[in-house]
Amino acid sequence: MQVKKEELTIDQIIHQALDSLSQASTVDQIKILQAHYLGRKGLITQFLRSISTMPQDMRPAAGKKVNEAKQVFEEKLKERTAYLEYLASKNDAGIDVTLPGRFSPYGTLHPITQITNEICRIFRSIGFQIVEGPEIETDYYNFEALNIPKDHPARDMQDTFYVSDSILLRTHTSPMQIRTMKKISPPLRIIAPGKVYRCDSDITHTPMFHQVEGLMVDKYISFADLKGILTLFVHEMFDPSTSLRFRPSFFPFTEPSAEVDIRCVMCKGAGCRVCSQTGWLEVLGAGMVHPNVFRNVNYNTDTYSGFAFGMGVERITMLKYGIDDIRKFFENDLRFLGQF
Ligand code: DAH
Repeated sequence: MQVKKEELTIDQIIHQALDSLSQASTVDQIKILQAHYLGRKGLITQFLRSISTMPQDMRPAAGKKVNEAKQVFEEKLKERTAYLEYLASKNDAGIDVTLPGRFSPYGTLHPITQITNEICRIFRSIGFQIVEGPEIETDYYNFEALNIPKDHPARDMQDTFYVSDSILLRTHTSPMQIRTMKKISPPLRIIAPGKVYRCDSDITHTPMFHQVEGLMVDKYISFADLKGILTLFVHEMFDPSTSLRFRPSFFPFTEPSAEVDIRCVMCKGAGCRVCSQTGWLEVLGAGMVHPNVFRNVNYNTDTYSGFAFGMGVERITMLKYGIDDIRKFFENDLRFLGQF
């Protein structure tokens, strides 16, 4: 419907004027609007003039209102002109302001960091303290004090990078057991996460990987405590319905020793490629701390007993997320890393 000029109130005029202004996309269009509303025959100008024909008592209020509206329009007009001039100058500089902005993606924690944090969170919730230690280690802490003497065949279990005869890159986080027990007396409950190194590289081994070591020492600690705590851990980490299996094994620093399996997270025990049709997956090594280890740190073996365990973080992460090649963790492919 076409509204006749003289029928428009000042409110309608200013509304219309501001609306057109917001839609103006060039400085030239603004000039046309300026003439249309503020020119000699412009709508606002005409309205101002018409005030003199109003009854005397209405004029001051009407005058005030029109002048205010005019002022608003003039201000907006200036603003919009400045803005459009700015855009034009950007365009002149070859910048297309209509393109969407550049997206800065958020980073994510590496899956190994996430799982390490999760392991630490679970053990902290039951009173374990987090400790960390050196990756360049002495032969004494890495082997000797853990009841692995020189020339002991157990050294073959871990292909070692030696820095010198007595200095090496730690092959496991177990030396943190010794470092901790030398510093504090029992009772203690610790978790030691960190990087470890072995001269090994294939689809399931990388020269550097991550382990988490656990140690608990107190009076009357038994294998049942070890079972209870590892069961709680597996249920929190995987699924509360996951079954565990303890298989007899050998580690020089524990006696008795066990390897702990969980029901295959892929096939739930039916047998698949991941568990080599056995229905079980090995997730960690554990056992009761060997008396020789306690003797090396001057703990009284009559009073105290304890358990220890060690697990590979890559292995846990691969099982949790169904990843089949350990090397993917270290290729820094963001398409892979961004999925976790
Ligand atoms: N240190 C062992 C390894 O790297 C893992 C391990 C086994 C740690 C048994 C333990 C343990 O504390 O009790 O293969």
